[in-house]
Amino acid sequence: MSVIDQIKAKAKNDVKNILLPEGAEERTVQAARIVTDQGLAKVTLFGDPAAIQATADQFGVDLAGIEIVDPERDADFDKYVEMFYEMRKAKGVDMEKAKKTMRNPLFYAAMMIKNGRGDGFVSGAISTTGDTLRPGLQIIKTAPGVSTVSSCFIMEVPDKSYGDNGVLIFGDCAVNIEPTAEQLAAIAIASAQTGKALCGIEPKVAMLSFSTKGSAKHENVDKVAQATALVKELAPELNVDGELQADAALVEKVGQLKSPGSPVAGHANVLVFPDLQAGNIGYKLVQRLAGAKAIGPVCQGFAKPINDLSRGCSVEDIVSVVAMTAVQAQNM
Ligand code: ACO
Repeated sequence: MSVIDQIKAKAKNDVKNILLPEGAEERTVQAARIVTDQGLAKVTLFGDPAAIQATADQFGVDLAGIEIVDPERDADFDKYVEMFYEMRKAKGVDMEKAKKTMRNPLFYAAMMIKNGRGDGFVSGAISTTGDTLRPGLQIIKTAPGVSTVSSCFIMEVPDKSYGDNGVLIFGDCAVNIEPTAEQLAAIAIASAQTGKALCGIEPKVAMLSFSTKGSAKHENVDKVAQATALVKELAPELNVDGELQADAALVEKVGQLKSPGSPVAGHANVLVFPDLQAGNIGYKLVQRLAGAKAIGPVCQGFAKPINDLSRGCSVEDIVSVVAMTAVQAQNM
């Protein structure tokens, strides 16, 4: 069974309520129907009911069983405006700004989740990554004990000798631009947890660099070595090694040569990139040149799951990300 089919099977076991703030967007409306019909989640669409109905009519979608929330007409609108004002007044938000922000369906969805009216949200078909993540960062915040929100991709490469039968986790490829050693450690721990929760892999985490165990000297290498030490301290149960070059992480012969006795080198299934340039470029190269399937970005570290879509996403992509978000919600 493919990774995404496994995730869909898990989603059906305990049906969660996933909010779709881009409610009148055509792929989102079609995905909402499929998710509902397949029992992957209960979904809520946001926006003007007439606009949502018009999109549904255009694509022959029946909206039965799908909840619709129009923020300004919702019974909790004034309460949420007040709550947002209280949460953000120290950041310069006044009542007028709070009202305007709550009219934004992405922020409204985040506030509904904060108040127990949803288990997670998915957007990004028409919003940027930043616009999708900011409501989560400002309202939902990080999970207890977590200070950094990050992301990873589930990569399925055709060559099954790599990773866990061809499945690898790449982090962080979408959120933290220049992570500190502490943030890199958080990305490593969160990526390992995501791999375990969504793909059932036993994580072997490689902290990637252009150096293996001191083969090169540079402050960037020191940062990765420091992050590795932090992971060992914070998650002593985790198999982690670093700093490692990508070939030492992935190829048994090279791993044995460059990091002898390592529990990870040559067999890594979670790759942690040193910064966003490396991570974002890295996953796209593997996707394009190796023909890998890239599922994500999967956001991690929020108190409740939020996931971002690519603006080029298909209806099926949205269905998959909703299922993934539902499984993350089950694991919280
Ligand atoms: N973890 C935890 N908290 C965070 C994080 C984080 N990674 N980033 C920001 N915050 C906090 C801030 O400290 C701030 O807290 P406060 O206002 O309560 O004090 C709050 O979240 C809101 O922060 P903002 O300043 O509004 O958000 P910011 O401008 O820092 O943007 C963002 C955050 C959008 C995630 C930014 O880091 C970003 O743009 N990252 C790159 C996204 C990107 O372009 N990715 C590549 C494309 S995606 C792809 O190719 C798949």
